[in-house]
Amino acid sequence: MFKSQLSQFFSPAPTFSEADVPAQDGKVFIVTGGSSGIGLELCKTLYQKNGQTKESRLHVLWNNAGVSQPPAGSLSKQGIELQLATNCLGPLLFTQFLLPLLKSTAAVATKDASSSVRVIWTSSQMVELPAPQGGIVMFELRTPPVNVTRNYVNSKTGNLLLATETPMTKYLAWPLLHSARLAALTELNGCYVVPWGRIAGSSGDSSTGGDLRKDLVGATKLVEDGGTGHAAEFWGWCVEMTRESQ
Ligand SMILES: NC(=O)c1ccc[n+]([C@@H]2O[C@H](COP(=O)([O-])OP(=O)(O)OC[C@H]3O[C@@H](n4cnc5c(N)ncnc54)[C@H](OP(=O)(O)O)[C@@H]3O)[C@@H](O)[C@H]2O)c1
Repeated sequence: MFKSQLSQFFSPAPTFSEADVPAQDGKVFIVTGGSSGIGLELCKTLYQKNGQTKESRLHVLWNNAGVSQPPAGSLSKQGIELQLATNCLGPLLFTQFLLPLLKSTAAVATKDASSSVRVIWTSSQMVELPAPQGGIVMFELRTPPVNVTRNYVNSKTGNLLLATETPMTKYLAWPLLHSARLAALTELNGCYVVPWGRIAGSSGDSSTGGDLRKDLVGATKLVEDGGTGHAAEFWGWCVEMTRESQ
């Protein structure tokens, strides 16, 4: 097993805690799935740091809401496999609706990191372990397998690919099956983030203990840049699937 995976299963004690989150006065956040689990812990921390939710600006959109392994065959109202619909298509549509607000907020935000505007996608370590080489098999999107775990992995790999395609600052978090409070810390920090709030690399060298799997890095790049173009292909599929709602 890769060092990076071991390090996520047996994460070191967090060196980043709620106390390290600076004051968030004047910042506006949306956390999807904020009613329970990791999202609820995240909201608690943000409220304690004076974040707001009633504003005409938006600094951070956390695409955190998600479903994991519902009964086999579960579909959305539109007839799409439920995990792909909830974890990828809904958040993509929501993000697109909010992009004008994020962009207008970014236009007036100052350049320092404390006022940056971000979209955060919540993926899973599940992606790095069982995902097929190259990330997503496009055929499985059109004809989802009966295996609900495989569909969850596809949806969370989809989150990774959407993060690399989203036209705002790209942030990706990987909470794990530990306490929601600790997982919320992972969503609160950095760029490509693994438990607990550690910033990992994306060079594709997993042997160093932290980096994303090499073939998944390749999936995030276009063919002309030496990758497979899977992220762009997945983005295109999601846009097509949500076209009627745009
Ligand atoms: N917990 C982990 O160990 C772990 C590991 C890896 C990745 N993740 C990811 O982290 C995120 C949060 O996980 P969690 O463990 O905190 O989950 P959770 O406790 O099950 O909470 C999920 C949240 O998503 C909301 N939600 C589900 N379907 C929705 C929909 N169609 N529309 C709007 N909201 C919806 C739920 O709201 P309702 O209750 O109102 O439906 C709930 O607030 C998910 O994306 C998950 O895949 C979690």
